[in-house]
Amino acid sequence: MSESREKVSVLISQEELQKRIKELAQEICRDYEGKDLLLIGVLKGSFMFLADLLRYLPPNTAVDFMGTSSYGASTQSSGEVRITKDLEHSPAGKHVLLVEDIVDTGLTLRYLLDTLRARQPASIKVCALLDKPARRRVRVSLDYYGFIIPNAFVVGYGLDYQERYRGLPYVGVLEETGESSNDAGDGDASAGER
Ligand code: IMP
Ligand code: MG
Repeated sequence: MSESREKVSVLISQEELQKRIKELAQEICRDYEGKDLLLIGVLKGSFMFLADLLRYLPPNTAVDFMGTSSYGASTQSSGEVRITKDLEHSPAGKHVLLVEDIVDTGLTLRYLLDTLRARQPASIKVCALLDKPARRRVRVSLDYYGFIIPNAFVVGYGLDYQERYRGLPYVGVLEETGESSNDAGDGDASAGER
């Protein structure tokens, strides 16, 4: 049997995430002082980030969600985006902050911005936890971002690989380890669980 095994190595720890999210929230609070803010979370990946961010924002902050999926293979965006869940309320006249888990090619964000702008919000900005600029295919500007990450497939803290790993409290790099590719390190074969 040649079952491949997956391993997740920590890229951004729980502590780093929480510290940075608090900083982002402070920035957002300052920028939107005196305004009613509507957070629009992009499902599913952003739910954890949005929930933690929201805890530091004022009580008049409203929340809505949109769902998207892109056609194609699991770790590659195909470029075609489709809405799987639409907003519950119109964003017209609202100060919208679009909350994304990660911006990779930028195609999802580009599509969402075009769709939402057509619905005439008072303003629209973007807050993404992770920015992976290496694979960007369209130009999008992020008003707020948590971390710039290298070109690797990451999971945890809302992000999945085939619907797994969303519940990890940290962001990690997903590595596929072949059955007998145990040639790294100096000997301790059983260690390394995190
Ligand atoms: P896009 O390529 O910028 O359109 O990103 C589309 C979506 O793919 C993101 O919102 C994520 O949900 C997902 N995605 C992109 N890169 C990763 C990754 O490294 N891990 C998990 N999901 C990812
Ligand atoms: Mg997403």
